[in-house]
Amino acid sequence: MTGRPSIAVILAAGKGTRMKSELEKVLHPLGGTPMLGHVLAMAGAVGFDQKTVVLGPQMDAVEAYCRDLDGSAKCIVQTKQDGTADAVLTARNCLEGFSGDVVVLYGDTPLLRPETVGTVRQALGQGADVVVLGFEARDPTGYGRLITNGDDRLLAIREEMDASPEERAITLCNSGVFGFRGEIVLQILDKIGNENAKGEFYLTDAVEIARADGLQAVAVACEEEEVLGINTRAELARAEAAMQQRLRELAMVNGATLIAPETVYLSADTVMGTDVVLEPHIVLGRNVTLEDGVTVKAFSHLEGAHVKRGATVGPFARLRPGAEIGEQARIGNFVEVKNATFEEGAKANHLAYVGDARVGAGANVGAGTITCNYDGFDKHLTDIGAGAFIGSNSALVAPVRIGQGAYVGSGSVITKDVADDALAVTRAPQQQREGWAAKVRARRTRKPRNKR
Ligand code: UD1
Ligand code: CA
Repeated sequence: MTGRPSIAVILAAGKGTRMKSELEKVLHPLGGTPMLGHVLAMAGAVGFDQKTVVLGPQMDAVEAYCRDLDGSAKCIVQTKQDGTADAVLTARNCLEGFSGDVVVLYGDTPLLRPETVGTVRQALGQGADVVVLGFEARDPTGYGRLITNGDDRLLAIREEMDASPEERAITLCNSGVFGFRGEIVLQILDKIGNENAKGEFYLTDAVEIARADGLQAVAVACEEEEVLGINTRAELARAEAAMQQRLRELAMVNGATLIAPETVYLSADTVMGTDVVLEPHIVLGRNVTLEDGVTVKAFSHLEGAHVKRGATVGPFARLRPGAEIGEQARIGNFVEVKNATFEEGAKANHLAYVGDARVGAGANVGAGTITCNYDGFDKHLTDIGAGAFIGSNSALVAPVRIGQGAYVGSGSVITKDVADDALAVTRAPQQQREGWAAKVRARRTRKPRNKR
């Protein structure tokens, strides 16, 4: 974005007590991705040279998550939660002698856009020493207020507790996101004290200290939604709604039709081509790819699935991890697919379970077919050759192979391989007794009925 070196310091040491959760706050997902993952991805998109995540003690799960997601992100521990300025100072080693942009971000503010952080960096590039990202709050209660001289020049940030009634009337609030010119960041942070109601080191004091040092502090503004910080489950749900709204709009911009967007749940990692049609009431969990021209009909649930060009899924279909649906294939109502590949043009149109299987090109899996893939100990594979026809209500007991072009008669329980082009039927031969039904009927109608 700019040529200057840059560091993001991401604060995430807060305990998140109000979530009332065993899971660390920043690991709670939005669109299936932990909120910290969104922040790291955003920081990646901004192009920070270094990312430092400030964690509290015993946040091993968060550290492990960071390590897996982004090897370039460094985690440091703030041993005692002494306030936001103290949290930034735990990154002192990275900041010493650094010249470039230092931006303070938050692990619990996952909706912030890279372009917005870009405006903070831009202001630094234009000569500001300290930049604060503000927003017009619908309800400013609880936020620090930005005291300006009427334009973007920032005089101070006043925390609610310390604000006068006039200051409380200000609706331009502190998002918490700060930009610092690297050369002066430690000079300022080291002057911040903790003489305030909470006895904490407030990052917000940086503004007045900068001014006293003859440095320039400015405010830039963004939409309130972007800086929605998550402290409670209700805020998490609000952020999820905003995230879903964004994902749906992006999907439509990229050429997907969403007939009733507000009823479709997407994941942040959903990949969709053009001319994908999503009917109402669909859930796309993590790791779903829908290629061009795929239609997903109403009330379907997909996760870990790859659906290729022109295939149709649903209504009421369930694709579980490892489902690979080939071009022009069809997965119909009440069909569950897990760890199975449908090759081009293969079909399972109604009421089936296909797990740990390959269904060859053009094969037809009849209604009520079950791949019996689990024997109580291990999973086994079912291999259905191209062009095979599996009659309705068949059980294919894996491991088993149905040859290319073979037929399985309806209602069969197949335990042995079926040769190419053969017919396999295992049901008992049909018997017929001439006139049996008529005889029974006659006998039953002569019998006197119970009187009431
Ligand atoms: C802070 C701002 C306030 C702003 C608001 C926006 C200060 C003093 N106040 O208030 O002006 O309007 O955010 O939401 O900065 N954290 C640490 N270590 C600490 C303390 C905090 O990592 O020692 C992290 C927390 O995980 C949290 C964030 O910093 O994500 C904000 O801290 P918090 O104490 O919630 O600040 P607020 O009171 O919300
Ligand atoms: Ca907060």
